[in-house]
Amino acid sequence: MDRLIITGGKRLSGEVQISGAKNAALPLMASTILCKGETVLSNIPKLKDIMTMSEVLANMGAGISVVEGNCLRINTDSLINREAPYELVKTMRASVLTLGPMVARFGCAKVSLPGGCAIGARPINLHLMGLEKMGAKITLSQGYVVAKAKRLKGATIYCDISTVTGTENLMMAAALAKGRTIIENAAREPEVEDLANSLIKMGAKISGAGSTVIEIEGVDELRPINYTIIPDRIETGTFITIAGITGSNILIKNSRYDHIAAIAEKLRETGIIITEEGDALRVIGPPIGTLQPADVRTMPFPGFPTDMQAQFIALTSMASGTSIVRETIFENRYMHVAELKRMGANIEIEDNIATVRGVQRLLGAPVMATDLRASASLVVAALAAEGETIIDRIYHLDRGYEKIEDKISNLGGDIRRVKGGRT
Ligand code: EPU
Repeated sequence: MDRLIITGGKRLSGEVQISGAKNAALPLMASTILCKGETVLSNIPKLKDIMTMSEVLANMGAGISVVEGNCLRINTDSLINREAPYELVKTMRASVLTLGPMVARFGCAKVSLPGGCAIGARPINLHLMGLEKMGAKITLSQGYVVAKAKRLKGATIYCDISTVTGTENLMMAAALAKGRTIIENAAREPEVEDLANSLIKMGAKISGAGSTVIEIEGVDELRPINYTIIPDRIETGTFITIAGITGSNILIKNSRYDHIAAIAEKLRETGIIITEEGDALRVIGPPIGTLQPADVRTMPFPGFPTDMQAQFIALTSMASGTSIVRETIFENRYMHVAELKRMGANIEIEDNIATVRGVQRLLGAPVMATDLRASASLVVAALAAEGETIIDRIYHLDRGYEKIEDKISNLGGDIRRVKGGRT
């Protein structure tokens, strides 16, 4: 297993290019199941999760090739109705995004039921409830969900919790259903809107994406498209916290301010200066020792995202005062706290509330990555810590951050990857 070795305390400078959004790319890749032909997706990040989704599609007979750099060609002419197997779903629960499109295109879908994961139980009951409302017969057998419907029918579906991949699954299924589907309390995340925009380009009739009510008028057929994925707002947010904690001045390129407004507003409270420069953000961290505390509650979009909570805790662990963080989306998303404490952070957890008492310095230590965003928070902390931090199990990081060590070392950070765990 690879490790990262980071020596903290360096001031960073220069430019960093943000990659395409993982959580937009994954549903867009799954949406290619809905039609025959060749789709070309640009700005696809090179990540482990993208490879896993490619394997899921290839297992169904899709032809997948990298055109150049970050461009992926997916040909679904010879797609066959084959299950999303346990071996792949267990490594990436977003494989469940194939359920809606498969049942819509083939009238039957079989997908391994994702189990719980490091950050919470994460059931998919709302995905299944929505498909049932559209007339699918759902059965669970030997760890697999089987959904069957000759042709899905439009329905009004109310989600009592806002669910990102649930909304995406149902929107894709409804695109080929007969009649009108209304998804109420739909997730408003930019990744949902990006999927809707790409489906519209494919010929789907969708309105309201980006709001809490999405209407989809089913069509008989969709066509393949060329499409460019939005930038990764969480990667942008992570680099803002990196600049903030190291007191650095960096230019973050390929970012959409409208997608990170809540993140920027909150991080400004800590003293970070963030200004828009075209499609880039100029970020200037406050002088070392002057970061201010701030309180935050994670919320669905347009609130402060749960995917930035760990990095926010790492940042405020060095603020001059106490910050209160409330995690409201996932029940077990504080695994990074124990590792940050090993570096000298002063954080207490009670239920879903983290009390972060800022310390003047963090000290490098061997730490362990436990999930994707937890790993990112350890990188943020390590870049500000005195001495060397060794981050183990960085395969979690590789699921969601493209070439992170290259991007940080281009900014002047002292970071290197060690293959196979040997230093
Ligand atoms: N939920 C249910 N039932 C469902 C679906 C969700 O109770 O049927 C609950 C979940 O347990 C959770 C809440 O609803 O408490 C919200 O979960 P959601 O379904 O929105 O999460 P997700 O779709 O599984 C996506 C991202 C996550 C991100 C969350 C929240 C993808 C592939 N994943 O997950 O990204 O944290 O939305 O914004 O889009 C990450 O990138 O690190 C990551 C975990």
